[in-house]
Amino acid sequence: MTTTTPPRSAPPPLEVEDLDVSFGGLKALDGVSFTVDQGETVALIGPNGAGKTTVFNAVCALVRPRRGNVRIAGRPAPPTARLQAAGVSRTLQGLGLFERMSVLENVLVPLSGLRAPARSAERAHTTLAELDLAALADRPAGTLPYPERKRVALARALVTEPDLLLLDEPAGGLGETDIAALAETVRAVAGRGCAVLLVEHHVDFVMDVADRVIVLDFGKVIASGPPDRVRTDPAVEEAYLGLEAAS
Ligand SMILES: Nc1ncnc2c1ncn2[C@@H]1O[C@H](COP(=O)(O)OP(=O)(O)OP(=O)(O)O)[C@@H](O)[C@H]1O
Ligand SMILES: [Mg+2]
Repeated sequence: MTTTTPPRSAPPPLEVEDLDVSFGGLKALDGVSFTVDQGETVALIGPNGAGKTTVFNAVCALVRPRRGNVRIAGRPAPPTARLQAAGVSRTLQGLGLFERMSVLENVLVPLSGLRAPARSAERAHTTLAELDLAALADRPAGTLPYPERKRVALARALVTEPDLLLLDEPAGGLGETDIAALAETVRAVAGRGCAVLLVEHHVDFVMDVADRVIVLDFGKVIASGPPDRVRTDPAVEEAYLGLEAAS
């Protein structure tokens, strides 16, 4: 522990420092460091198995790093159960919806701890309207088409008004129109000052919404920078974009 004078500006919503995560003999993350600033959208890309979801799991205290630190708004990352109170929301790589519950009920789940039901309902309805889900509020989530279910999952993450939003493959399985709407939503959320970290395979979407791109390969950061620079980085083309072009 070192004592430092408090910084003049607020600490970044997310700081990941020298993170090592191993599963048995497999090094899933190897010295990963990055930050996400307020209002910034950072994309974490890389081939399958590169360690992207593991970064999310480490941030959410679902896996214990062998070394390194995660700081949320300047404080050590809280246990999973206290992430919401710390201003952190995430969507899962799968949908993770309660299929038999209505859209509205799904979105109310993260607010169940709040003591003001009227305020919760108001927030839920505002979020549903923002994601063009108002007309579907009473429908069981499991009966909706995939793009709408995906938006319900996003609504559930947004309804808590997070300061840090982690999105694992938000564009996965979506067509162009839905991806364009998603890009709008991400921009609006970031525009309110929320820090967004997104894992995504959809390169055009990443290039569209990300202020900065971090490329992971075999658990290591092999490149980072503005989207257009990262896109043309030869190491990245070899590790990731080349793979995509070949598939
Ligand atoms: N709980 C776990 N136990 C054992 N190995 C794991 C576990 N979670 C992840 N791994 C392994 O760690 C590596 C990184 O996995 P991770 O899920 O982070 O990759 P990813 O970049 O999210 O891949 P994808 O694009 O396929 O989602 C992979 O080799 C994976 O098999
Ligand atoms: Mg993953």
